[in-house]
Amino acid sequence: MKEKFYLTTAIPYCSGKPHIGNTYEVILTDAIARYKRKMGYDVFFLTGTDEHGIKIETKAKEMGITPKEFVDGVYAKVRDMWALVGASYDKFIRTTDDYHEKAVTGIFKKLYEQGDIYKSQYEGHYCVPCESFFTDTQVTDGKCPDCGRPVERATEDAYFFRMSKYADRLLKHIEENPGFVEPEARLKEMVNNFLKPGLQDLCVTRSSFTWGVPVPGDEKHVIYVWIDALSNYITALGYEVDEQGELFKKYWPCDVHVIGKDIVRFHTIYWPIMLLALGIPLPKKIYGHGWLNFGTDKMSKSRGNVMYADELAELFGVDGVRYYTLSAMPYSSDGSITYDSMIAAFNTDLANNLGNLVSRTVSMNKKYFGSVIQAPVASEAIDGELKACVAETVAKVHEKMDTYHVSDALSAIFDMLSRANKYIDETTPWVLAKSEDTKARLGTVLYNLLETIRVGASLLSPFIPDTAAKILATLGTDDMSEEFGALVCGKATGEAEVLFKRIDEKEFYERLAAQKGETAEKKEEAKMEEVKVEEAAAEKVYEPVADTVVFDDFVKVDMRVAKVLECEAVPKSKKLLKFKLDLGFETRQVFSGIAKYYSPEELIGKKVIMVANLAPRMMKINGNEEESNGMIVASGGHEPDAVVRLLFAADDANVGDRVS
Ligand code: MSP
Repeated sequence: MKEKFYLTTAIPYCSGKPHIGNTYEVILTDAIARYKRKMGYDVFFLTGTDEHGIKIETKAKEMGITPKEFVDGVYAKVRDMWALVGASYDKFIRTTDDYHEKAVTGIFKKLYEQGDIYKSQYEGHYCVPCESFFTDTQVTDGKCPDCGRPVERATEDAYFFRMSKYADRLLKHIEENPGFVEPEARLKEMVNNFLKPGLQDLCVTRSSFTWGVPVPGDEKHVIYVWIDALSNYITALGYEVDEQGELFKKYWPCDVHVIGKDIVRFHTIYWPIMLLALGIPLPKKIYGHGWLNFGTDKMSKSRGNVMYADELAELFGVDGVRYYTLSAMPYSSDGSITYDSMIAAFNTDLANNLGNLVSRTVSMNKKYFGSVIQAPVASEAIDGELKACVAETVAKVHEKMDTYHVSDALSAIFDMLSRANKYIDETTPWVLAKSEDTKARLGTVLYNLLETIRVGASLLSPFIPDTAAKILATLGTDDMSEEFGALVCGKATGEAEVLFKRIDEKEFYERLAAQKGETAEKKEEAKMEEVKVEEAAAEKVYEPVADTVVFDDFVKVDMRVAKVLECEAVPKSKKLLKFKLDLGFETRQVFSGIAKYYSPEELIGKKVIMVANLAPRMMKINGNEEESNGMIVASGGHEPDAVVRLLFAADDANVGDRVS
């Protein structure tokens, strides 16, 4: 019987079209799944969408449609994107699927009845967009430690999970199972920052919105989106709903949960503790990959640097996108994607190294032998080197894939292809072709090249499956064995087709500009559609107007025009910018959590509005106490996916003037 291998991706939030970062994860998991299938495992590959939560409820409300209508639309986009990149999943779960909701209700009930979940009152700092409560120590300057937006003080009835009860067992499991979380540094962070200092009980319900799985018997509350989402890994196998539970029995425990670095905490602490409480074995491994950044910048809509796999595939082909993302993401750190680096990798690795090797070899076989594969009868020492390189590469690819060093596996294959190109230069087939005496040697050289290409295509098949299939078809074989010598002599190779056409930079950027124009047009159309829906529904939800204040109270807030003299990013902080502001009569130092929305360069010299009489506060900045004296006024920030915008004074406004 085949050994089983169960692997999963994180299920992306069903809030919009998935970008290349989310899509990278499914490509990565797909490459691992294809590799394991090739190695003879009985693979079950699960992916899906995370469809509940306040963000979705709010977005749907803004569009005047029901949350279900909203997620149905986004789900179709995720499914199409996964299909485009060739994700070979065995199951796609949606957290709004009936069986999943039913199972989540059952899981919650079980945990409540056995006393692991209890009802109490929560008092803490709540971040609306993140749907998370935070403790005093986690909140700095009244801002959410995850997204940097303001948190609010909130008290509510809620249900709690006794995390602390299981912390020691989890720690023991981690100590006894090296490799439970990879890369190791990510685990250390979890153990030292969360587990060792002591776990707090986790609030596992919300009552501020309704788009979620209701708490059984107390339907004012919905189950926390993470409890709902994490359960997908077992409910998809029929846990709690399928009486027989065949899939669950067969595939659980999961062999690897493939997730991004930002959600390692949920997968290495909350998820294992849920499973311990349910008496279910823990997953064997959690692999937290890095993030794909646009150059060195985080991809974000507000920065306008978000890339999508479908648009990239129009420019580089699906395998171009798969190859680039898989090779550009190192095992433990972040990866970078830019058009220039994609063009360079495409031309150097795919067009030159791989594409030319295949077309040169197949063309020579046609020219010299009418495409018939020759027997390797005239070996020389140099052939041994090539064969040894192939054998070493095969071993290296297995070693790297078994430890999830996927980009290293790919670069080993491309090193082998370079070696084969060098072999052509060393053996000079065009010289051998000049004499009948060297015909047998020429046939041997071409056999060795074709065979290296065949093994190469076999090794490449998990990463760039379409290209690998095309190469094998050109060689006239479907033999995927990784042993050198499997290619059958006497058969014919096919026509050398251009696998990857070199990209001309100038032409590329013209195509990109045309695509961007078109995308902007499409976006505009989509926006118009949304506007129509909104108008029809006429129910955009605005924050209620705050309690009335009298004028005398209003003027207590002293707002002034201030000029930005200096502005710089705060090292190691994703949120903060440090300002020196000129008020005319004095200069002030102010820290503001707007780094996500503005770069320092665009603010220097601008005139902003600041609250000049806000009590100064001391902030801990990289270990030093620094004063923030005043507050810069901005719009937005409370709603999910906020667009935070500073309020600027007119260019000719007087610095230091009051705003009233
Ligand atoms: N819904 C949760 C996951 C629940 S799993 C039980 C979630 N969704 S997400 O849409 O924000 O992210 C989905 C996955 O994409 C996560 O693993 C996340 O780390 C990953 N990525 C998001 N941006 C990414 C990049 N820029 N690069 C690589 N992966 C990225 O979290």
